[in-house]
Amino acid sequence: MENNVTIFSGNSNVALAQAICEELNIPLGDALVGSFPEGEVRVQINENIRGKDVYIIQSTCAPRPNDYLMELLIMIDAARRASARRITAVLPHYGYARQDRKDRPRVPITAKLIANLLVNAGANRILTMDLHAGQIQGFFDIPVDHLYSINVLSRFFLDRKIKDLCVVSPDVGGIKMARAYSKLLEAPLAIVDKRRESDKQTKVMNIIGDVKDFNVVIVDDLVSTGGSLVEAANALKVAGAKDIYACVVHPVLVGPAIERLKNSCIKKLVVTDTIPLTKEKQIDQIEILTVSSILADAIRRIHEDESVSALFADADVEA
Ligand code: R5P
Repeated sequence: MENNVTIFSGNSNVALAQAICEELNIPLGDALVGSFPEGEVRVQINENIRGKDVYIIQSTCAPRPNDYLMELLIMIDAARRASARRITAVLPHYGYARQDRKDRPRVPITAKLIANLLVNAGANRILTMDLHAGQIQGFFDIPVDHLYSINVLSRFFLDRKIKDLCVVSPDVGGIKMARAYSKLLEAPLAIVDKRRESDKQTKVMNIIGDVKDFNVVIVDDLVSTGGSLVEAANALKVAGAKDIYACVVHPVLVGPAIERLKNSCIKKLVVTDTIPLTKEKQIDQIEILTVSSILADAIRRIHEDESVSALFADADVEA
């Protein structure tokens, strides 16, 4: 593989890119990804990639989603102009995904805009994980491989053999994924009927299903300010739930999130490393599990023209 594949990393998640390279037993590609004095992104690929299968790893995430997006676009452009045979943009976390439809007048659909930008920059394929909405795949007219972290995250609960478990979707949009967890963990399913009051605050209207005397695990794709999660946890506590766990793929964790979490009834928040956490955010309540092996395996399979969906054969997720 080493001779034909080159993996580069932007600055958003170098640790994950390095872990992926270690799994694949290849060195991380040599590229400068910095900035010019005025702040413009400066990229220089320092090795020959003519004819190579190139993978550029970059989460377009907090704390600098816009810079990371520009880095990714500019790296793709550099790789294209350096005659890479194929360029795969690897977005462990696909930012700007929550604006995926016009849910009110005169708003953008940023998930589609980002798709257009990636394709126009020169990406030939997309590899991403736990999109906010699976339909975002359709915003691309190039192949999209959509990975899931369910096998990694559910392991936490399977290993601990937690009894009387109930899986909870914190909103109606998350039911499909919560159902997949409920099957894998052999636990019943409940749903929180939530309304968003503002960018930072949500309100629970109702809980559909029985959570009384259950240990619950709230399953979500991302936690940003923590409003949705903590509000859901409080409502579940009031409804009689025992221990409350949360299982969230992308730990955006901005603004009041960490304080909210510390002051909440959530026993453990299990997340992945699609977004790196600064030291201050690595509190005992948070358990970080790596998705490096899934991403590495997917890259190997794409390169060798093998099935990627086979990775999730055991989980009831959409291929
Ligand atoms: C909503 O659809 C998402 O899945 C998350 O629940 C939500 O965006 C998290 O945002 P916050 O943590 O700011 O409430």
